[in-house]
Amino acid sequence: MIPLVYDQVNNWGKDDEFFLELLKKLNVKKIADLGCGTGRLTIHFAKIGYGITAIDPNEEAIKYAKKKEFPGEVTWIVGDSSNLEANAFDAVIMTANVAQVFLTEESWQSVISDVYQALKPGGHLIFDTRNPLAKVWEQWEKDRTPDLAMNQVNGEQLEIWTEYEGFAEDVFTFYETVKNASTGEVVIHEKMQLKFRSQEEIYKSLKEAGFSLTQVFGDWEFKQATSETKSFIFHSVK
Ligand SMILES: C[S@@+](CC[C@H](N)C(=O)[O-])C[C@H]1O[C@@H](n2cnc3c(N)ncnc32)[C@H](O)[C@@H]1O
Repeated sequence: MIPLVYDQVNNWGKDDEFFLELLKKLNVKKIADLGCGTGRLTIHFAKIGYGITAIDPNEEAIKYAKKKEFPGEVTWIVGDSSNLEANAFDAVIMTANVAQVFLTEESWQSVISDVYQALKPGGHLIFDTRNPLAKVWEQWEKDRTPDLAMNQVNGEQLEIWTEYEGFAEDVFTFYETVKNASTGEVVIHEKMQLKFRSQEEIYKSLKEAGFSLTQVFGDWEFKQATSETKSFIFHSVK
């Protein structure tokens, strides 16, 4: 995640609408947004009036989030799932594939155990993750054109180039380079890795953490996921 350009290349979409709609249906009050990034979606939850705690280890992303103006209140925390208060939330959400940043089984299992502790009995864990069977990285690798953005600090035009290393042991590795569009100077270069877990693996890990009920929706429709859906949206209950 590159906070400088993140909001400019991640537009509001039907995934965001889906999270808002599902939370509305569940009638929750207190939410934790784990891996909130720049608060792109968090501030919409705050506008609705949820009591919201937003956590991310990326200090710069939280700095961008805090600069945003919006009605409502958010408790911003630079940290991770270990900072979640116990038995405190009606729902914990991880949006925009946060679940895929946990590369090892230990780190993933520890996150969902922390989330389990943080939820009140009957509380909801909701997150999305990409289906490895859809092999979306094959589409990504065809894209050889840069995304365009503007440096919010000094107004310069930027290009965001992506180089793909490839898919190995369920992890897709790529590099993002942000360059000044007129001089070619490299502003940021970052390695990114995403873990792709199967529906069955995730289901098993949620059960191991103690979650009782898990529904899996596919592709931002309130329909059950199939092996063909590009994204899974997991909804588990403590
Ligand atoms: C693709 S961004 C999603 C941001 C936000 N949820 C959204 O909807 O725009 C993934 C986020 O996961 C965060 N992240 C990385 N490691 C994490 C960890 N150990 N615990 C929580 N979040 C983490 C990154 O800093 C980044 O902000």
